[in-house]
Amino acid sequence: MTQETILIIDDEPEMVDGCRRILSRAGYRCIGTTDPREAVALVRSEHPSVVLTDLKMPDVDGMQVLHCVREIDPDVAIIVFTAFATIPSAVAAVKRGAFDFIAKPFSMDQLKLAVERALEHRRLALENRSMRDQIQDALGFENIIGHSASLMEVLKLVRRAARSDADIVIRGESGTGKELIARAIHASSKRCTQPFVAVDCASIPDNLLESELFGYEKGAFTGALKTKAGLIETANRGTLFLDEVGELPYSLQVKLLRTLQERRIRRLGGVCETPVDLRVVSATNRDLDELIRNGRFREDLYYRLNVITIEIPALRERPGDVTLLAYEFLKKQRAKGDCEARGFQPEALRALEAHSWPGNVRELKNVIERACALAESELIGLQDLPEQLRSAAIPGRIETGAREGTSAGSLKDAKNRWLSRFEAVYINNLLKDHGGNVSEAARAAGIDRKTVYRLIRKYRLR
Ligand SMILES: Nc1ncnc2c1ncn2[C@@H]1O[C@H](COP(=O)(O)OP(=O)(O)OP(=O)(O)O)[C@@H](O)[C@H]1O
Ligand SMILES: [Mg+2]
Repeated sequence: MTQETILIIDDEPEMVDGCRRILSRAGYRCIGTTDPREAVALVRSEHPSVVLTDLKMPDVDGMQVLHCVREIDPDVAIIVFTAFATIPSAVAAVKRGAFDFIAKPFSMDQLKLAVERALEHRRLALENRSMRDQIQDALGFENIIGHSASLMEVLKLVRRAARSDADIVIRGESGTGKELIARAIHASSKRCTQPFVAVDCASIPDNLLESELFGYEKGAFTGALKTKAGLIETANRGTLFLDEVGELPYSLQVKLLRTLQERRIRRLGGVCETPVDLRVVSATNRDLDELIRNGRFREDLYYRLNVITIEIPALRERPGDVTLLAYEFLKKQRAKGDCEARGFQPEALRALEAHSWPGNVRELKNVIERACALAESELIGLQDLPEQLRSAAIPGRIETGAREGTSAGSLKDAKNRWLSRFEAVYINNLLKDHGGNVSEAARAAGIDRKTVYRLIRKYRLR
């Protein structure tokens, strides 16, 4: 166990030494000072868990020390010493964030007990926070489904990026989940309690975009009947999501860049500037480098926005996710009561995996919702899928039906993909041949039941 550090602040050296002796003997690492100004530096450098401080000291007010310490590290548990006559000020200190007070003179046991309680309180507070962080993390990411190595890699980067406050550009084809990821970034960032404001640069007409983004004062232009805050201002302290940022008109790019650099915004027709504090997450399915080369996108703005790049792979590059997503979307439809089916026929799964998904996850979601509405039996079949998917599925050619042979991605990825598919189909057929009896199936395949159950779970077979 790491040793907890206790900082003792009192203008009487005997008091500091006395406490230090008692607490060191109790196993704590103790540092002490008679100078409250030095104390603040010590909190910064030594990260104490508990601070014991006198309230009445000649030069500096104990309350001020309390305030500074809490500013530096809100998790420090503070105990104030107080003379019998100053109990009301001790009570005031507790109201201002001290954990406890002990009246002088006190016994060794009183001191040790107070420190133990303070440490316990701190431990609980930290545990609580870490739990909250975990929940928050889950909140942002629970909707993102996938288990392919490439998506996992992306999500790792997303989590790291979310914790920083850097601006982010998310690239990916249409429907790959750029907005989903942008929202997850916001939800798991320190700005999560502040607004997330999405601006679709492609769907707002150019002539409105400026007033939408920057807001306007009453009378700024014909029709500006009252003052309106812009989206940038609305996102203050939170996250501004610039969707399809490649569509931002050139003239606005300059203005946006200036706003981001100066961290101040002026409404149209306004005179005063207001400070804004933003994280900008942009998304694009266009090749920004090419837009820059063609003079359609400003390079300086690009560098400002693109501190971290997140590249979401197309669905066809992560076929392992297709089945998983298909089952998840099916589950959602079932939960809504919009679906009788419980699963997919192997040919249907094969067709889903063989499709190239130009519309990515959005397209897959639509296909499954449609299939759920059409399906008349327990299992969604080929007949429930759109024509272009049906014709791509060639029955009986499991080994070559999907794109295992393509050279997309690394050999290792391609191999794993192939193996996963093989395993899923094998186990599915195995179970079918043995009427769903896992023991029999396991025996026939020469593997143990545990493995069969693991694979059923892995491939979500029923
Ligand atoms: N990994 C995923 N898990 C679950 N749902 C997903 C995933 N990726 C995308 N989706 C869903 O697919 C749909 C499209 O996602 P989203 O709108 O985030 O994509 P996009 O990249 O912003 O698309 P576009 O470029 O067309 O704006 C949404 O319904 C979203 O919830
Ligand atoms: Mg989008």
